[in-house]
Amino acid sequence: MELPVNKGILNTAILVSIALITATLIYPVFHQKTSSSVSTYFYNAADDTSQDGCNIFTGEWVPDPDAPYYTNNTCWAIHEHQNCMKYGRPDSDFIKWKWKPEDCDLPSFNPSHFLHMLRDKSMAFVGDSVGRNQMQSMICLLSKVEYPIDDSPTSDEQFKRWKYADYNFTLEYFRSPFLVRSEERDPDGPTHTGLFNLHLDEFDESWTSHIDSVDYLVLNAGHWFTRPAVYYENRRVAGCHFCQLPNTTDLPVSHAYRRAIRTALRAVNSRRGFGGVALLRTFAPSHFEGGLWNEGGDCVRRRPFRRGEAILEGADLDLYMIELEEFRAAEKLGKKRWRLMDATQAMVMRPDGHPSKYGHWPNQNVTLYNDCVHWCLPGPIDNWAQMLQHMIMLEARRDYKDGFFKIQ
Ligand SMILES: *[C@@H]1O[C@H](CO)[C@@H](O)[C@H](O)[C@H]1NC(C)=O
Ligand SMILES: *[C@@H]1O[C@H](CO)[C@@H](O)[C@H](O)[C@H]1NC(C)=O
Ligand SMILES: *[C@@H]1O[C@H](CO)[C@@H](O)[C@H](O)[C@H]1NC(C)=O
Ligand SMILES: *[C@@H]1O[C@H](CO)[C@@H](O)[C@H](O)[C@H]1NC(C)=O
Repeated sequence: MELPVNKGILNTAILVSIALITATLIYPVFHQKTSSSVSTYFYNAADDTSQDGCNIFTGEWVPDPDAPYYTNNTCWAIHEHQNCMKYGRPDSDFIKWKWKPEDCDLPSFNPSHFLHMLRDKSMAFVGDSVGRNQMQSMICLLSKVEYPIDDSPTSDEQFKRWKYADYNFTLEYFRSPFLVRSEERDPDGPTHTGLFNLHLDEFDESWTSHIDSVDYLVLNAGHWFTRPAVYYENRRVAGCHFCQLPNTTDLPVSHAYRRAIRTALRAVNSRRGFGGVALLRTFAPSHFEGGLWNEGGDCVRRRPFRRGEAILEGADLDLYMIELEEFRAAEKLGKKRWRLMDATQAMVMRPDGHPSKYGHWPNQNVTLYNDCVHWCLPGPIDNWAQMLQHMIMLEARRDYKDGFFKIQ
């Protein structure tokens, strides 16, 4: 369970001005104009005519009559708390939207071509349970072609390894919600959700020491940073967030987040054996309205926001900007192939895609009663597979141009 950032999505005239400020802040960074579109996906590494320059992360949600591509009955990989249909979610329109970039069409997900591109390769998701949510979405989308076998070394849910036997493709999940070394200091803590020690300048070796064989590393973090925590730097207490310990300075969440992201990216940059592509998947905002996660806040909207209706603001905007800044800094060192998977702009527009109260039975006692953090499966997060497919296709094409591409 995750402790989300509080954010009320407001849709008032006053906020239009803020929206404009937000837009000028974000769009100059990404907006690359292209004249034509990626019209075909079919795997052809030598094809130089399709457009690499389209910014696939700015756009809007449009109806997708073909969705869903799997159901809770055809895919066993859906996590209990994201199995919204099983728990009685009455509407299904939220499943029938696809992400449409402004300047091009994102080709639909093609499981056999995806697996073909990843033959003899491995991909690892590192981060919190939204990363696991993404991995399970991918397993479900790929299940049309093949289900993986569980190749995990232990029954520990913190680390999972899946193997696609026919393609020799390995999929891994490392749970590391803070991306840096951390431990639970007190399982109860000031808000009864645990108090954590975060070592903001220390690598979490539970994943950093296992990435040498990884071809595509997908990092994410965010939601856990609002939890009460004691921050360590240089092995000493540097401050804390809502720890209620005597003589400990309260530091903003953004301080810890910046340090942690910087440390995680440094861990990858300094890992000599890692020669893969490192992707930072940006923060996917929660959508609590009418209160905090523990104060009756809920997400009851039934359709996506249109362009301009949803804005990134407050703590969500802070986390996002930190990710962009730290990503640029890490990329600049030129040590690894860094790519930004900027899911934030798409996901801020999907208040309708969360489990809300349909992630459990009504009488079940769960921490996050209305879950406005994770994403129902099937649901909007399935669209991340198209983004990833597009990005991997570009990598394969670069490899080809660089002469490293192996003809299968
Ligand atoms: C899938 O959802 C339906 C309701 O739409 C439910 O009746 C069924 O039990 C669910 N199946 C599984 C395997 O969760
Ligand atoms: C499977 O892929 C790995 C790399 O991920 C490679 O080392 C190994 O040789 C491959 N196995 C087969 C049977 O091709
Ligand atoms: C907190 O700081 C004050 C003033 O420096 C000191 O008198 C007190 O003993 C400290 N308390 C603890 C628990 O360290
Ligand atoms: C839910 O569980 C918590 C702790 O496990 C307990 O304190 C609380 O009373 C329970 N609530 C209900 C409605 O059972």
